Amino acid sequence: MKFFIDTADVESIRKAVELGMCDGVTTNPTLIMKSGKDQKTVIKEIAKIVKGPISVEGISETADGMVKEGEEFSKWAPNIVVKIPMTKEGMKAVRRLAAQGIDTNVTLIFSASQALLAAKAGATYVSPFVGRLDDISEDGLQLIADILEIFRAYDYKTQIIVASIRHPMHVVDSARLGAHIATMPTEVFEKMFKHPLTDKGIAQFKEDYAKTKK
Ligand code: G3P
Repeated sequence: MKFFIDTADVESIRKAVELGMCDGVTTNPTLIMKSGKDQKTVIKEIAKIVKGPISVEGISETADGMVKEGEEFSKWAPNIVVKIPMTKEGMKAVRRLAAQGIDTNVTLIFSASQALLAAKAGATYVSPFVGRLDDISEDGLQLIADILEIFRAYDYKTQIIVASIRHPMHVVDSARLGAHIATMPTEVFEKMFKHPLTDKGIAQFKEDYAKTKK
């Protein structure tokens, strides 16, 4: 399973890269705003340290506008993926960008029908938002299972980026289902390392080792 980091915070990304765990990065206008930098500056900084795909999202609502934004973003680095919202105009843009060889990530996916449409349009990735579904008492992980079943049935090459991840079990359950990628906030990535018994065991071994010294 690939791990993407869902942030525009360059220092967090750098730490994940140093650990060898950052296969890519996803951003959105909210995450860019939180970084306190302008989009082009921060994406170029991220591109200096991340070899894998970096998703960049615009704000256009028309296919023409999205294609124009996508063409501009893709000049910033060779590994840019253009994030496109799940709308009719968005699907037109996905097809046109795909024809130009520009990778796309269809975002704000909340149903299997939307994921199927995105795959038919030629999306490189789809981003179903599991956390936001769970937040409204729907089953985010069930959506991942449904999309995987459909993509496997027709051998679609579109990959699933499980997004809006809230906790490590979202990652674990997505991995159990065989989702291609999980994009997670830094806090979730940090939590994945943690287990109190690991900390306790290290402390105990350290203590016992000290007792063996004459
Ligand atoms: O980047 C898209 C997605 O991961 C956003 O997550 O936490 O705002 O629902 P969240």
